[in-house]
Amino acid sequence: MTKLQRSVASPNVVCIEDFRPIARQRIPKSVFDYLDGGAEGEITLRENCRIFNDVTFRPRHAVAVGKVNLGVRVLGLDLALPFLLAPVGYSRLMHPGGEVSAARAAGRAGTGYILSTISGHKLEDVRAGSTGPVFYQLYLMGGRGAAEGAIDRARTAGFNALVVTIDTPVSGIRERDYRNGMKELISGTLLQKIPFLPQVLSRPGWLFDYLRDGGLPGLPNVIIPGKGEMPLVDINAALAESTPTWADLKWIREHWKGPIVIKGVLTADDARRAIDEGVVAISVSNHGGRQLDGLPASLRALPEVVEAVQGRIEVFMDGGIRRGTDIVKALCLGANAVLCGRAYAYGLAAAGEAGVDRAIEILRTDLERTLRLLGCDSVANLDRSYVNVPKSWEA
Ligand code: GLV
Repeated sequence: MTKLQRSVASPNVVCIEDFRPIARQRIPKSVFDYLDGGAEGEITLRENCRIFNDVTFRPRHAVAVGKVNLGVRVLGLDLALPFLLAPVGYSRLMHPGGEVSAARAAGRAGTGYILSTISGHKLEDVRAGSTGPVFYQLYLMGGRGAAEGAIDRARTAGFNALVVTIDTPVSGIRERDYRNGMKELISGTLLQKIPFLPQVLSRPGWLFDYLRDGGLPGLPNVIIPGKGEMPLVDINAALAESTPTWADLKWIREHWKGPIVIKGVLTADDARRAIDEGVVAISVSNHGGRQLDGLPASLRALPEVVEAVQGRIEVFMDGGIRRGTDIVKALCLGANAVLCGRAYAYGLAAAGEAGVDRAIEILRTDLERTLRLLGCDSVANLDRSYVNVPKSWEA
């Protein structure tokens, strides 16, 4: 076992939450809070996690469960696990391995990785790094030409699907980012940066790795025609430039031609609209509580969407997942698979690739144990009969 692996092995890390204090110690406050925080009062951020308490299990005891099958088939791909790694911006700031490490760990575990547009590694390197499926999450930053360039590269590199996020007409206000000077640190002058430098200088281990990695990465997957690579921008500027509409989906679909997933559906109406646009899957998502505060928790919005979709396309959900029991509850309520973001990103920030491996392992063992405790031998057999849902949820 390497030193890094030991740092996140039991008893140091027993569950996902245990990564948080380690990550907080290793990376600057600005990067940690970008990962950890949400919009405004962080009500939706907290509710995404809390809501899982409202759903309880109905086990089938005294049942012998042999081998437990955790595999799912989504987008025509066989995955060994019912969760994929969600797109996480700025991953290369959390650890130099960033997106390549996360994709490699996902592939090793037999699952998929979704690369954010706000990524510091080239999409070709991410594709080459993983033995599993990789999807490209598209923002329209840099304009249509830049997006078409990324789509062409993703197709050539062999990405399996495009994930279009639709909940970002502007950025939600992540108050922690303002207080920490995220904008100044990323795109300010030296003078503007100075007040925010102590938090960076107090993480010499991270700083050493960051400088050795070449300092602030650019956005190598956003190449603006005639201008070149877009520099890393603060999230507010990035998202304000990337308002996607249903009209955009038409040219995106014509240009990409492959499977498209829409991320950011919370209502039956948007789910039906996505089906009309010809997408193959949607993710029920409030962007991890990072956009509009006051949105319902993803798990709470899931039943309405599942009901509207009627099995016509696949339904994923993301938001608040920190344990295997959370994943099982989402599957019981009709999700075909879930996306985990912070759950692995805390691991990445704590210990690089070893941390992502460990996060996946924790969720995998959680899942296997939970299914055994429920008396169910396969995630394919999970349904509403394994959970109690509050009366107030009934439509
Ligand atoms: C980017 O998509 C973010 O939520 O920070």
